Amino acid sequence: MKTPPHVVLIGFMGAGKSSVGKRLAQQWGCVFIDADERIEEREGLSIPDIFREFGEGYFRNLETEFLKALWQAGHMRLVLATGGGMVERPENHELIKRLGKVFYLRADLDALMARVPLDPHRPLLKNPDIIKQRFALRQPLYERLADHVVDTLGKDPERVAQDIIKFMTNTR
Ligand code: S3P
Repeated sequence: MKTPPHVVLIGFMGAGKSSVGKRLAQQWGCVFIDADERIEEREGLSIPDIFREFGEGYFRNLETEFLKALWQAGHMRLVLATGGGMVERPENHELIKRLGKVFYLRADLDALMARVPLDPHRPLLKNPDIIKQRFALRQPLYERLADHVVDTLGKDPERVAQDIIKFMTNTR
């Protein structure tokens, strides 16, 4: 298999960005980067702690800084799992696009929430009204930003990864 271009996974919490991304990177023998993990490592704080101590706006700034730094680091090849809220900042769209092929892992809200029940690492999950509002806000943004939409309903991460591999192979 030839070297794939970078692959960026976007989608709501519970879409499977990290589990699919790990499988893709393993398959291609390239670097996997999880944006949330990198931000936590850099700050020395968990995401819930960042939200609690500094607020969501601060976390969103960290996400934008992360995207800029990743571009400057100039990795050879990578698969990136973005945080579900990165699309909320318009300036992030260009930063995401220029990194590589963007795949939206799509599912409906019920399916997404069934995959992440009461996860303490996701501060926004505490409020069902916020979740619904954010989902409605972001869904069109994910669709617009994506080069390709992958429907994940009823598929396990392995199957979703295979769909992406097929797509990348056919479009090379
Ligand atoms: C968030 C999603 C989380 C994490 C943070 C905020 C969001 O990432 O960045 O809790 O706003 O949807 P995942 O999409 O990986 O869960």
